[in-house]
Amino acid sequence: MLKVEEIETVPYEGQQPGTSGLRKKVKVFLQKNYVENFIQSILNVNEELEGCTLVVGGDGRYLVKEVVDTIIKICAGNGVGKLIIGQNGLLSTPAVSHLIRKNETLGGIILTASHNPGGVDNDFGIKFNTSNGGPAPDGVTNEIYRHSTIIKSYKIVPNIKCDITTIGITRFKIEEKDFVVEVIDSVKDYLDYMKEIFNFPLIKTLLEGSDDKKKFNILIDSMNGVTGPYVKRIFVDELGATENNLRRVVPMEDFGGIHPDPNLTYAEDLVKEVRKGDYDFGAAFDGDGDRNMILGRGAMFVTPADSLAILASWLHVIPYFQRTGVKGFARSMPTAAAVDRVAKDMGKEMFEVPTGWKYFGNLMDADRLSLCGEESFGTGSDHIREKDGVWAALAWLNVIAHSGLSVKELLMKHWRKYGRNYFARHDFEECSLDSCRQLMSDLERTVTAEGFVGSKHYIQDVENAVVAADNFSYMDPIDRSVALNQGIRLVFENGSRIIYRLSGTGSQGATLRVYLEAYTPCDGDIHMSTEERLESLVTLAMRFGRVRKYTGRDKPTVIT
Ligand code: G6P
Ligand code: ZN
Repeated sequence: MLKVEEIETVPYEGQQPGTSGLRKKVKVFLQKNYVENFIQSILNVNEELEGCTLVVGGDGRYLVKEVVDTIIKICAGNGVGKLIIGQNGLLSTPAVSHLIRKNETLGGIILTASHNPGGVDNDFGIKFNTSNGGPAPDGVTNEIYRHSTIIKSYKIVPNIKCDITTIGITRFKIEEKDFVVEVIDSVKDYLDYMKEIFNFPLIKTLLEGSDDKKKFNILIDSMNGVTGPYVKRIFVDELGATENNLRRVVPMEDFGGIHPDPNLTYAEDLVKEVRKGDYDFGAAFDGDGDRNMILGRGAMFVTPADSLAILASWLHVIPYFQRTGVKGFARSMPTAAAVDRVAKDMGKEMFEVPTGWKYFGNLMDADRLSLCGEESFGTGSDHIREKDGVWAALAWLNVIAHSGLSVKELLMKHWRKYGRNYFARHDFEECSLDSCRQLMSDLERTVTAEGFVGSKHYIQDVENAVVAADNFSYMDPIDRSVALNQGIRLVFENGSRIIYRLSGTGSQGATLRVYLEAYTPCDGDIHMSTEERLESLVTLAMRFGRVRKYTGRDKPTVIT
């Protein structure tokens, strides 16, 4: 019989989950009892643990398999009834969200640092999702953190051995109690769900071509992350694409040394391929499969805010929304406001929430939100409670197949109707945390001082007054919880915005993000380069934030 042991431990400092779970360097997680402490703290906040079911999986990065093993042992020691685990520990973040909902489990544990590089010298992460399938809300993560600071022991079944390489069910008896581990096909449930959501036969005809229509040629890039097995099954086995339409589809522990983040900087490789090849469409996903980047022919880039707005205006062609109806829309505060115009036009509710997918969950659970997105390359809907990269690519293909329009035509049609929200994000990475905090507090003082609102500044040679300046706060309309200090926001009379925020997902130092947005109405010049359109805003942003002084940099390290 397998026995539970209670092992004494001492708390670690800093097990505070950030925007998206606990993220640190691998070597931090390798410290004695570091993982055990955190997993036990997650379990401690769940009152209905006895006999419950949890979903467990990760993005395939270094340490996932070892931590899955630790989770099995600690869950067994804490009276959990069943674990549903992806084969070899692999599950994309959206797939975990779906499995939690489908199996009505208490929650799930996701092992990922998302788009951060992997491997022994890079990042690892542990994230807890609750029974609605979404990232644990602040109340829960704060409790997990509190437990991590007072933990004295954890419970473990050290001798349990469980093979996660083979699909199947293993039953254990732990001191008279049943404990079940079910290893599942990582892809199947997710694939079945996508087939319910989208019109697969229509997309298949698009990708295979027909007598009078050339094949629509796609290039899908998994960036050596977890989506590899998903895209093979979905695009090749189901939708008639070939292996030539896919790249980097074998999940690797170090993501092949790349930064698995689908944007113009880190997925530049895909951009080049799409540009030189005869491709009509390109898409890339991040390490854990929740982010996406969409490209058209010639590698025409669709900003995440435009992607959100365009999908919003075409949702009615997607079977899932034909069934559920279209409720409201939402975006995070720094995301360009393109979708706001669609919402207004369609008479739908529109929400502006802080950065972080967790803020969308309550609105979805209350049936007020169908589609949402963030500038950080996240797009998703209420089909689950995470953003969903593969879903976004399928949504675009469904719209393209239905409308007969190319990516470029869809963009042009959109801008001609609604105008264009030019947008860029400038990141100043690996800065000192202290000076970045100083930057933010000085800036807050400057912009909230009397006279700043109303002050006039030149934007593209035209004087513009600041009409609002604040540190964004949000009250959740459903549970009335409040999130403060979510980014400093400056709004000008012509609708332009500059936003400053410190990243919440880094594993060391600080990253300052400066978000720049300028709106051009449909009768204005909607064909400028983003750089040119935003140039004067960039100058103002550097000046207001005294960015050079505090970061030591006069240029961003990354522009997305
Ligand atoms: C994760 C979350 C997103 C969020 C992003 C922000 O990816 O899932 O919802 O937009 O982090 O990251 P940042 O580094 O800007 O805090
Ligand atoms: Zn991710």
